Amino acid sequence: MPTNEQILDALQKVFDPELGRNIVELGMVRALSIKENGEVSFTLALTIPGCPMKNQMERDARMALMALPGVNEVIVTFGAMTEVEKKAVFAKGMPELPKLNKFNRVEKVIAVMSGKGGVGKTSITAILACALAHSGKKVGILDADITGPSIPRLFGLPAGGLRSSDQGILPAVTKLGIKVVSINLLVPTEDAAVIWRGPMITGTIQQFWRDVLWGKLDVLLVDLPPGTSDAALTVMQTLPVNGVLLVSTPQELAGMVVRKADSMIKQMKVPVLAVVENMSYFTCPDCGKAHELFGPSHIEELARSVETQTWIQLAIDPKLAALADAGKIEAYSSSNITELIQKTEI
Ligand SMILES: Nc1ncnc2c1ncn2[C@@H]1O[C@H](COP(=O)(O)OP(=O)(O)OP(=O)(O)O)[C@@H](O)[C@H]1O
Ligand SMILES: [Mg+2]
Repeated sequence: MPTNEQILDALQKVFDPELGRNIVELGMVRALSIKENGEVSFTLALTIPGCPMKNQMERDARMALMALPGVNEVIVTFGAMTEVEKKAVFAKGMPELPKLNKFNRVEKVIAVMSGKGGVGKTSITAILACALAHSGKKVGILDADITGPSIPRLFGLPAGGLRSSDQGILPAVTKLGIKVVSINLLVPTEDAAVIWRGPMITGTIQQFWRDVLWGKLDVLLVDLPPGTSDAALTVMQTLPVNGVLLVSTPQELAGMVVRKADSMIKQMKVPVLAVVENMSYFTCPDCGKAHELFGPSHIEELARSVETQTWIQLAIDPKLAALADAGKIEAYSSSNITELIQKTEI
């Protein structure tokens, strides 16, 4: 039969992903009881009753406890912290930022985010990086999409392209001189699947920030996976993000989920620099007319709802998809992206 101490020890390995601290330290574990028959039960006091991370924490706690000899069953009930308790938790602040490699100097970190998948974050990150590089800026891309990395493919960078040096991991460099770090550059083949749990994703992103020899960069763009996942939270919590670009498509649903992402950004106190509505329209090559294939735009309304004055629209452009697929994204240019850079002063 495990002791109270052993149970609490095991629960110290369970983290609140939003706060980056373990649930014991946060005072979330209450009414712990251990029965003779190996049944362990406790109440998990949440900071927010509907916390989207509660199921993950429950799962992690269950796994941590079931691994202990003598534990046969784990019962977790959810409770809520009082206002005073919550204040005390938040007053402790966020965990300290990991220190950047001493050889690095990164002026600006911009994260590219969306609520929904497949809206064009990676494409926009890539063409924005190219436009910045063309204007003489020193640019890096940190591919924070650990389980679905696609940045290297757009630039035609082969798998296994990262090298190491005494000073840190050396990024791959594109033809335009953009420094790229992605898990796809570490795995032996591009198709090797990366199936990792949250803490490993978090650790990898922190390493991509801390242990990579980025050198001097004017802008580091961070390509995020869709939604408010572990990766997105890690980036917002542990990287000094100066601003976020929110990508959406005209579908109302995409707008709704983008607002969800916005609420996370607000909690992290990072400004939304602009909303980019991708695939807004398609200009017919024959008649020259713009057709709103995914329905009418909601961009102005969306920009208002996430409290930014700045938005741009991008057309559906088969040339963009073709160049991306061919690994030749650096040959693509878009006047709207230039407009985005001017408007946001990235
Ligand atoms: N404006 C566009 N015109 C034509 N095709 C586009 C456009 N934007 C993106 N695409 C295509 O749509 C697909 C999805 O784009 P992309 O991978 O950039 O989205 P994503 O938001 O990064 O996706 P994920 O959420 O999976 O990371 C790609 O095949 C890309 O080439
Ligand atoms: Mg992507």
